[in-house]
Amino acid sequence: MKHFVIAIDGYSSCGKSTMAKELAKQLGFIYIDSGAMYRAVALFALRQGWLRDGILDKGTLCEHLNELQISFCQSDNESKSLICLNGEIVEKEIRGLEVSNAVSIVAQVPEVREKMIDLQRHIAANAQVVMDGRDIGTVVFPDAELKIFVTADAAVRAQRRYDELLAKGENASLEDIRKNIEMRDHMDLNRPISPLRQAEDALVLDNGSMSIEEQNAWLLDKYHQLIK
Ligand code: DC
Repeated sequence: MKHFVIAIDGYSSCGKSTMAKELAKQLGFIYIDSGAMYRAVALFALRQGWLRDGILDKGTLCEHLNELQISFCQSDNESKSLICLNGEIVEKEIRGLEVSNAVSIVAQVPEVREKMIDLQRHIAANAQVVMDGRDIGTVVFPDAELKIFVTADAAVRAQRRYDELLAKGENASLEDIRKNIEMRDHMDLNRPISPLRQAEDALVLDNGSMSIEEQNAWLLDKYHQLIK
């Protein structure tokens, strides 16, 4: 089989990455976390001091975009791909609240989106990929073979993210996480460029009351129905 794209879009903290990763593993496809790419840009801007107190020096970031190199590399012990910012693995650094609070701001910059979309299309050229994000089925791959739109109640998503952070031994406040999720939903839905939308031909997956096993089975079933 040649080029084949499964686009998984939806709200933040819906478990898109977990399901996309598992689906890619089951099918032997490449998994691409497009959100991690925007998070790496936010980390870059924060480190350079171009993003402070929620205010982005957009001009300076855009001027230096050509110095920003984002790639995915394989970890030694797992088949998992890790996000790299200018050659440094930043998988852990991009998951904290500071980056989470800042990422929607950089994701609204047209030049940033253009660069990320080019990269996403380049990675997927002639490959079989599962890519998750917000605009994969609508903008990046409008002709994706299979499109899924994932949704779940904000309170359920906040609780899941909170449990995840606690399990990693990180400090977290459920209230802060819920606020962050609602803020990101608002920004994702209302930004002028590539807002979060369900593609007309996407299948909706509301996983609010589904187990991980149930959602994996649901996805595999949709894939097999399609290729039958
Ligand atoms: O999926 P995530 O929460 O890691 O995404 C981080 C942010 O990046 C989120 O606020 C929206 C943005 N994003 C985007 O604008 N387009 C994508 N394709 C993926 C993520």
